[in-house]
Amino acid sequence: MTKRFNVLRTPSARKSADWRGAAPALVEDVLRGLQSTPKRLSPTYLYDERGSQLFDQICELREYYPTRTETAILAANAADIASCIGDDALLVELGSGASTKTRLLLDRLPNLAGYVPVDISRSHLMGAAQRIAAAYPQLEVLPACADFTQYFPLPKPRRAAARVVVFFPGSTIGNFDTPAAIDLMRVMRRMAGIGGALVIGFDLVKDPAVLEQAYDDSAGVTAAFNLNVLRRLNRELGANFELRHFRHQALWAPAASRIEMHLVSTVRQEVTIAGEVLSFAENEHLVTEHCHKYTPASFAAQAAAAGWKAERTWADVQNYFNVQYLDQRP
Ligand code: AVI
Repeated sequence: MTKRFNVLRTPSARKSADWRGAAPALVEDVLRGLQSTPKRLSPTYLYDERGSQLFDQICELREYYPTRTETAILAANAADIASCIGDDALLVELGSGASTKTRLLLDRLPNLAGYVPVDISRSHLMGAAQRIAAAYPQLEVLPACADFTQYFPLPKPRRAAARVVVFFPGSTIGNFDTPAAIDLMRVMRRMAGIGGALVIGFDLVKDPAVLEQAYDDSAGVTAAFNLNVLRRLNRELGANFELRHFRHQALWAPAASRIEMHLVSTVRQEVTIAGEVLSFAENEHLVTEHCHKYTPASFAAQAAAAGWKAERTWADVQNYFNVQYLDQRP
């Protein structure tokens, strides 16, 4: 992979992009995060076009086990998972992306009432929905362009659905801190409605060395992915981050049971962003993402707080990852 960092000589040497066209909510959120202690950015900012391409590359890395492990679990247990979902369900996938893993289930679900891929990126959503509709001509595909962290009414399929099953693979739930993860699982419960269910993938606690390598690979793809957020802020918010003055770090934080992705300032420096000047001390950390790892008990507690109860769990032989089918607690 070619790393093409936007290397700058001095903060003042770079002509700032005009940030006044940026959404005020984005400016406010980024500044609030960068002015807090420790400095923080929402992980959603990692996924601009380049960040999404780099994330796709991460999923192919030898060190990054979650994607291939979850795919193998889904492939090995597709018939079983499909029988939990049952006939005539409306399958709603949150953050559907390319819907690659979903195909493993769709192959076994010829009688779905419909499939609702949900994604914030309209162009990716529409492209993927068209490809799914072409591959499964019997299936009604009802794409919904939405922020899945907020409840929205689901599109209605032509054929009445027996119930709604939400599908949330990828351990994306782990990128939400516990209160937000509970809120999101409550949104899923509301979407699923009475009698609805959830199929979710989540990553398990394991040897910290395995975890840290998964988030700090030898080819430097995760480092490029993390640093790319600064390039995005340079482009969209007229910032003048010098990428060579930050380094990527992935830390296992046992008390919080999560990998934390940080960008560490290697020098004392000042950065201008959206007209504000921010100071970074040498070795100051900027937190860009949390990736929570669960035990069966910790995930059950989080799910229970949102009104879900596990009925079935599928794992890989190494017990690295779980896929779970949950229904609603009475
Ligand atoms: C999207 N999400 C589930 C990934 C994860 O493993 O938490 C994001 C990621 N960040 C670095 N590598 C992968």
